[in-house]
Amino acid sequence: MKPLIVANWKMNPQALKGAKLLLNSIEKETRKVTNVEIVVCPPFIYLSNFFYGRGKTMIKIGAQDCFWEEKGAFTGEISAKMLKDLGCKYVIVGHSERRRYLKETDEMINKKIKAVLKIGLRPILCIEKISQIKKGIKGIIKKDLKKIILAYEPVWAIGTGKACGIPEAKKVNLSIRKILMDPSSPTSSYILYGGSINSQNARDFIKKAKFQGLLVGGASLNPKEFIKLVKNVSKT
Ligand code: PGA
Repeated sequence: MKPLIVANWKMNPQALKGAKLLLNSIEKETRKVTNVEIVVCPPFIYLSNFFYGRGKTMIKIGAQDCFWEEKGAFTGEISAKMLKDLGCKYVIVGHSERRRYLKETDEMINKKIKAVLKIGLRPILCIEKISQIKKGIKGIIKKDLKKIILAYEPVWAIGTGKACGIPEAKKVNLSIRKILMDPSSPTSSYILYGGSINSQNARDFIKKAKFQGLLVGGASLNPKEFIKLVKNVSKT
């Protein structure tokens, strides 16, 4: 299983030109890294530009959110079907910033996860605490549970420069795994860590804390730092 590195650009960069430059440099510099899976999740508005004229590349593109309905009168929303039509493979769901600023509830997140799975994309379910897992995956059939990528992001570690300590992260990772191994909710294939990941600490979260990947915010906006991060993880 290759480590999965998901770049969450959030509401950045501020113009298409910068977004294209960032993607191009990541693509160029990571071309030879074949033992790490890279997913870039830009703002919706840049997505279509990232699919046309890109040629063949290893980097996959994901979205940062979607709505739970397929179509209809839902002003401002984007469906999982639209994302699939473009070529997206992954959708981040339930990020703590959406829970906090948009008041997304576990019920809404659960509906989004189901919509993403129904359309055949892979949801990246973000949780800040273990209690959010069961609510997020409620009612999802066993064979679909394996397609959910779970991202543990302690809220105090997001964007603060203070990543979770390795022993603590490892402990939480094991507890999550235990919950997911529960016969009534079997294992998800990937558990990621997110929160102040950088090129210096990334490797330890994979190697020592035994996560299968990382969700990277701030460090994914600096091409040099992100490329270094990917290369360090590729050494694991
Ligand atoms: P950060 O963000 O890497 O800037 O802490 C992570 C995230 O919110 O996904």
